[in-house]
Amino acid sequence: MSDTVKFTIDEQAVEAKKGEKLLWAALKNDIYIPHLCAIKEEKRPNASCRLCFVEIEGIPNPVTSCTMNVEEGIVVKTRSPQVDRLLKTAFELLISDHNLKCSQCPANRKCALQKIAKERGLKLRQKRFKTITRDYEIDDSPDEFAFDRSRCVLCGQCVWADREKAKVGAIGFTKRGINRVVTTFEEVPLAESICTQCMLCVEACPVGALYYK
Ligand code: FES
Repeated sequence: MSDTVKFTIDEQAVEAKKGEKLLWAALKNDIYIPHLCAIKEEKRPNASCRLCFVEIEGIPNPVTSCTMNVEEGIVVKTRSPQVDRLLKTAFELLISDHNLKCSQCPANRKCALQKIAKERGLKLRQKRFKTITRDYEIDDSPDEFAFDRSRCVLCGQCVWADREKAKVGAIGFTKRGINRVVTTFEEVPLAESICTQCMLCVEACPVGALYYK
């Protein structure tokens, strides 16, 4: 029995391994789907960013492509009015709480938020939701990197890299809702935590929250 499945994304014929998630199959075929929180090696995606919606023929509502397995014969659309609406809302919510001084950001021009905005014709400004500005102190205690929470999108890439790749567990999520942040145990500065300064979290950050000094 074949271990591949054939289907279409935006009318393009695609082949992928059985069990593969739709998001990765699309990206492998140069079909862009916005995403922030997806981690290829993670078997149980948490689907928290809500950016990767697609439509599948026969399924009434859009689904997150990072959680959806590929299947033989499915007909996938990466754009539709409903998908675009969901993406716009998720994106605007995200940036309502984000430090948008892009010209001062180390990730300027290579930031995942800028890419999403460009690919989907979205603005890095929004008026629909109340803008939340917080005075987070930048943690520049490590020798070679710093952490600016005002730019964090809570995608969890750094937490995963720290736990699963570096096997350290120096950082994690704390608090709920709009107060949710990535931090160390007891919120001590990184240099005072068990962080080994391996830089894997910095490499994993898709925006400019964790950056080299
Ligand atoms: Fe699918 Fe974040 S990438 S919900």
